[in-house]
Amino acid sequence: MYSGIAAFDFIFSILLVPIWAAAVVVMGRLTTRGTQRKLRRGTRIAGVLIIVGLVLTIGRLAGLIGLATYGWTFVSDRKVGTVLFMVAAAVVVTVFARPRLIALRRLAAGDQQPPSDELRAVAYRPWLIVPVQAAALAALPGLFEKFLPPYQAALPTFLVAAAILGLLTWLLAVRANRRHAKLAGPNPSRPAAVRTLVVRLGVVVVLAAMAVTLMSIGGATSKLPETFSMMQGRPDFGGGVEFAHDGHGPPGAGSGQGAAPGRAVSVEQLRGPADGPPDRTFTLTVQEKQVTFPSGQTFDAWTFNGQVPGPELRVKEGELVEVKLVNNLRDAPVSVHWHGLDVPNGEDGVAGVTQDAVQPGQSYTYRFRAEEVGTRWYHSHQQASEQVNRGLFGPLVIEPRQPARVVDVDKTVVLHDWTRTGGEPIRTYGGTDTLDRQQLAAGSKVRLRLVNTSNVTKHISVTGVPYRVTAYDGTDVHEPSDLTNTRLPVPGAGRYDVEFTMPSSPVRIADTANPSGGIVYSPDGKGEVGPDVSGPELDPLSYGKPADTPFDAGSRFDRNFTLVFDVWLGFYNGSFALRQTINGQVFPDAPMHMVREGELIKMTFINRGEEDHPMHLHGHHFLVLGKNGNRPTGSPVWLDTVNVSPGDIVEIGFRADNPGIWMDHCHNLTHTVLGMVLHLTYENVTSPYLVGGAAHNHPD
Ligand code: C2O
Ligand code: CU
Repeated sequence: MYSGIAAFDFIFSILLVPIWAAAVVVMGRLTTRGTQRKLRRGTRIAGVLIIVGLVLTIGRLAGLIGLATYGWTFVSDRKVGTVLFMVAAAVVVTVFARPRLIALRRLAAGDQQPPSDELRAVAYRPWLIVPVQAAALAALPGLFEKFLPPYQAALPTFLVAAAILGLLTWLLAVRANRRHAKLAGPNPSRPAAVRTLVVRLGVVVVLAAMAVTLMSIGGATSKLPETFSMMQGRPDFGGGVEFAHDGHGPPGAGSGQGAAPGRAVSVEQLRGPADGPPDRTFTLTVQEKQVTFPSGQTFDAWTFNGQVPGPELRVKEGELVEVKLVNNLRDAPVSVHWHGLDVPNGEDGVAGVTQDAVQPGQSYTYRFRAEEVGTRWYHSHQQASEQVNRGLFGPLVIEPRQPARVVDVDKTVVLHDWTRTGGEPIRTYGGTDTLDRQQLAAGSKVRLRLVNTSNVTKHISVTGVPYRVTAYDGTDVHEPSDLTNTRLPVPGAGRYDVEFTMPSSPVRIADTANPSGGIVYSPDGKGEVGPDVSGPELDPLSYGKPADTPFDAGSRFDRNFTLVFDVWLGFYNGSFALRQTINGQVFPDAPMHMVREGELIKMTFINRGEEDHPMHLHGHHFLVLGKNGNRPTGSPVWLDTVNVSPGDIVEIGFRADNPGIWMDHCHNLTHTVLGMVLHLTYENVTSPYLVGGAAHNHPD
């Protein structure tokens, strides 16, 4: 619904400009019509255009009210501003211009006679002409709405825009008065055609020159600095206790007044256990490889160990894991981030924040204890938008010491979209881009761990058997019930575990955006079923049974952060782009969320845009407190990545219990690279690493 209203609103805002512009042209030429009949016809056309303009304006007003029912934040600032201008102009047109137009039509009663000089003057009365010109001007901010700053600085922007529109209208009024006076004067004259042409050409040239200058200034000034520290930036204390924080520095240097000297700790010190033999060791070697999928399509991939997806890392709860990352690429540095694992900050694998990117020919060793049972994954966090797409990802499973249920088959199914320039993405299920057939014995207990490594929400259907969703993002669902004919909305970077008992007939899993693909499981590897993609979407907040949580929506939170997502057309890092903003800002200008260890934190995500934003916070698991004002009625939902759909307000809460500097970003990595990134900074934690710089660190 929200997206539908937003789409109509957008179409109306685009249509309004040509409609009012056409009315301006038609009305400006009324005074030059050769016969009264032609003059009358002109008034009729203008009348129709005005009615259309007024109807579209009412449409925009209705759209504004419709969007505002989702919450005032959805329309405050630029949308209210642009619609107000239009409505004000429409009122002036209705009150002043339209009655004069109707009166003019009555006056032009003659047929083939040329209009009298008097009639010509009446056809150019300022109160007839200028309101419509003003309406055309007032429609412009609506057309360029996405160029206006979203969310921030609402009133100043509005006042500046109002002043500019007011000034232009005044100039038009002066011009109209002068022209009208000439027409009504003793020797009515028309402006020399040549002079008008020259003036118009001049205006076009000046406007074009201004546009070119603005473009090049915009391009140059939007370049991100060569290097910068994640310690720089505008702190946001979320309404909680403020503390001094003076940027990066050597460990132990203190961080200004308010912090006890010597308490500062560098992310370098926040590493996993340095000593002791690891229980499990893995080597992930990054190498280039041309992959051929079963359909015959090829992709120039970057792989871990030559495999796509990367090898499944399966460990037991409590094990000390050591992973050696070896970079055998020719020229790109890499890193590995353990998505959904709350490792110590120094093991988090974010280039430029918790380490330097690992250069070609170099290696880096991660060590951490696998504490959180469940389905996780790993991926590069150096130029993630490019490197994850190209293949630097794989599943990671932590099995419990004492499983609550024993299953016979436990498999990961990695869903990935290999996007290519100029073509549909190659959509794969565990590396297969055609319908895959797998054998499963009838009667076996099956656990499928769906891992969505793509940028977008996948709606997964399971057809042919009743099943349960037993975990989201690796955390168990409390008392899940049987499902059939339901679509599972797995956000980009999210995971759903699905369990069922294999029947003797086939079972199909499929992504509803790609219903011909997917996997058919059957005892003999044959047979057909579904997919049934018509069912309703699962609402995790009402699925399963409630259980105790350490806090809930009614708890007292130490800090409250609100993140409003939107888009803003303009320049980003040297090129023109649809910037993905948080509170009207893009990385690195988006605020740093400042927290103290032990605090209870609440975040409210509001999506004013038109695309999903799967928000991922590193290093923490959060509880979903509510959505659009509704509190959960089902199992507690603990996630590391929560999808925020257009029009949604999602509240989450977490305990700040893992000191460090943690990325918090949209996991649609095409949005990440367009600015939708901020970070959570614990008091006294510093980082010596720099984004950019000699190591070419680019976390996004
Ligand atoms: Cu899955 Cu910041 O990452
Ligand atoms: Cu996003």
